[in-house]
Amino acid sequence: MATLSGKKVLVIGGSSGIGYATAAGALAEGAKVTIASRSEEKLRAAQALLGGKVEMRRLDVTKDTEVEAFFGDALSYDHVVVSGAAFKFGTVRDLPLEDAYAAMNVKFWGAYRVARKAAVAPGGSFVFVSGFLSRRPKPNMVLIGAINAALETLAQGLALEMAPVRFNVVSPGIIDTPTRAAMPAEARKTMLENVAKALPVKRVGQAEDCADQILLMLRNTFMTGSVVYVDGGGLLI
Ligand SMILES: NC(=O)c1ccc[n+]([C@@H]2O[C@H](COP(=O)([O-])OP(=O)(O)OC[C@H]3O[C@@H](n4cnc5c(N)ncnc54)[C@H](OP(=O)(O)O)[C@@H]3O)[C@@H](O)[C@H]2O)c1
Repeated sequence: MATLSGKKVLVIGGSSGIGYATAAGALAEGAKVTIASRSEEKLRAAQALLGGKVEMRRLDVTKDTEVEAFFGDALSYDHVVVSGAAFKFGTVRDLPLEDAYAAMNVKFWGAYRVARKAAVAPGGSFVFVSGFLSRRPKPNMVLIGAINAALETLAQGLALEMAPVRFNVVSPGIIDTPTRAAMPAEARKTMLENVAKALPVKRVGQAEDCADQILLMLRNTFMTGSVVYVDGGGLLI
């Protein structure tokens, strides 16, 4: 199997959660890692935690011009991971349309914009991060499930349209990352405990569980158009 040693890996959303764990894993395998996200402060903190051994570049994937400028500098990457997203959710009736459009804009159109502009070296690949709600719709998060499904299908189409560049998707279940930092601590703890009890594996996921699969997809040159659910058996219950 190919190795990531010396490969240029860009992780969008690399300042936190699944993206951060992916950046750390790629770095440990000897890749030249760049992390990107909106907040310079978060990027600096992540860069420091990673021993200053990664490049950092500011990028908001919701902005057409930023994405174009980011990839317009003739730099190419071997692998591009798109894990950057933040959105509000709610029922279709209650979620303001503005927030619904914003969720689609960051998670679906963000990946689309990146795939459209990123220069990837021969033998390279993209990994998108979707979410198991694509296959297991949940009241209150209907739109997110639909966005995840769209993202998975986008990657499979691009695996054909942009071949031999490879496109794969990791679709996480419930992963304990800073994404729920805004929840009251006690409610978050109870929610995660309940999820752990219900799952066949009896624990919630960690960012590293998803990062492991992402790194495999970057390395494995026989994988393209694959969607892998890293959900602790969440699709089964
Ligand atoms: N955690 C879960 O349970 C779970 C489950 C299913 C799917 N997922 C998906 O997994 C992906 C990663 O989530 P996570 O849990 O790792 O979340 P996280 O810890 O909150 O990390 C999100 C990352 O995205 C960046 N980001 C947000 N908006 C961005 C934008 N417009 N442009 C560029 N970067 C942006 C954030 O940095 P800045 O704030 O600096 O931009 C941060 O680095 C998301 O797509 C999420 O929907 C997560």
